Amino acid sequence: MTAAFLAAELYTGEAVALRERQHYAARLWHAVTASSTLADGQVMADQLLGMPLLLSRDGGEVRAFINRCPHRGMPFLDPADGPRSCRRLVCPYHGWTYDRRGRLRAAAREAEFIDPFDRAAWPLASLPCRELAGVIWVAGGPGPLPLEDQLDLLLQQCPAQVQRPRRLLRRTAVPLRCNWKVAHDNTLDDYHVAIAHPQTLHREQGPVRHYRHALSDHASLLATPWGEGEFLTFGLAPWTHLLLWPDGRLALIQFPPLAVDRCRLDLWLLGDDGHAASADDWLAELLRFLEEDRRLVEGAQQGYASGLQPGPPHRLELRILQHQQLYARLMADSAP
Ligand code: FES
Ligand SMILES: [Fe+2]
Repeated sequence: MTAAFLAAELYTGEAVALRERQHYAARLWHAVTASSTLADGQVMADQLLGMPLLLSRDGGEVRAFINRCPHRGMPFLDPADGPRSCRRLVCPYHGWTYDRRGRLRAAAREAEFIDPFDRAAWPLASLPCRELAGVIWVAGGPGPLPLEDQLDLLLQQCPAQVQRPRRLLRRTAVPLRCNWKVAHDNTLDDYHVAIAHPQTLHREQGPVRHYRHALSDHASLLATPWGEGEFLTFGLAPWTHLLLWPDGRLALIQFPPLAVDRCRLDLWLLGDDGHAASADDWLAELLRFLEEDRRLVEGAQQGYASGLQPGPPHRLELRILQHQQLYARLMADSAP
C-alpha cells in the first residue's frame, strides 16, 4: 500500500467530479432508503446522483426505475409525495400508464400514433436494485461491481447481524461545505477520534490500544470492545459507513456529493421495536459527534482548496489509504 494521500486537486476540480460520476459512482451501489419505508404495493420518488429515481415494490420485490416517462420525460411522482400505494403509474402529461413492474399498460389515443405503436417497446428505464441488511441499494449505472463484493467485509464479519430484521427509526440530513471525500476520509480516520471527540465517539470506541482493524478488497472495519461484544464501524464504497452495535442497532452514514465543494451527510438509524423508545437519545448522541466532525471537514476543505500538499499518513489512517486506492483504481479504469 502506497503511503501517500490523494492529491488535493482531486478534492477541488469540476472535471474530477464529472469523472467520479462516470467512473466511480456509476459502477457502485448506493443506499437509497431503508427497506421498511416501502411497503408492498407502494411506489416512491427519490434522487440518485442527480437522476430522478422511482422505487416500486410489487409482490415483495423492489425495482428501481428512472422517474421519467419514456414519451417526453415527465416524472411520474415527486419526492415530496413520499411512499404511497399505487396500482398504476399515470403520467400527468399525456397519460401513459405503467404498472409497478415498469410495463406500459395503456397510452392515450393509442390507435393514432404516426408509426405503428408497440407498448412492449416502451418500458420504464430500470437500474439494478437489491435489498440487503434492511436497505434498498440501487446501482448508479448498468453492470456494477457485484453488491456482495462491495459489501464483502460486512458479509464476512457479521452475516447474522446483517440479516437481523430492522426498521427505520430516524432519518436526518445535514449539508456540509466540503467535497464528499473530505467527509468520507474523516469518517474512516481512526487517528482523530481520541483528540477531536474525547467526550463523544471516543467514549463509545474506547482506548486506541483496543482497536481491531480489518481490510478487504472494497471495505474496511474498525472494531472496538462494547460490553460483551464489539462495536463495528465499517467503511464502504462509495461514500458510506455502517455502524453496528452488539444490541442490533445499525446506523448508516453517507455523504452523497452535491457539488465539488459540497455534500450532504445522511444519517439513518435502524433497529427493532425495543430500540424505538430511546431513538431520540441515540440520534442526539450521534449528531453531537457529527457536529464536531462538521467543523473539521469544513476546515479541512479550506486547506485542500488553498493548495495543500497532504502530510504523511499515520498507521491509524490506513482505512483512508485503503479507500483512496480503491477510488484511484476505479477512476483510472478506461471503461466505461
Ligand atoms: S410525457 Fe408522459 S405521457 Fe407524454
Ligand atoms: Fe470524526
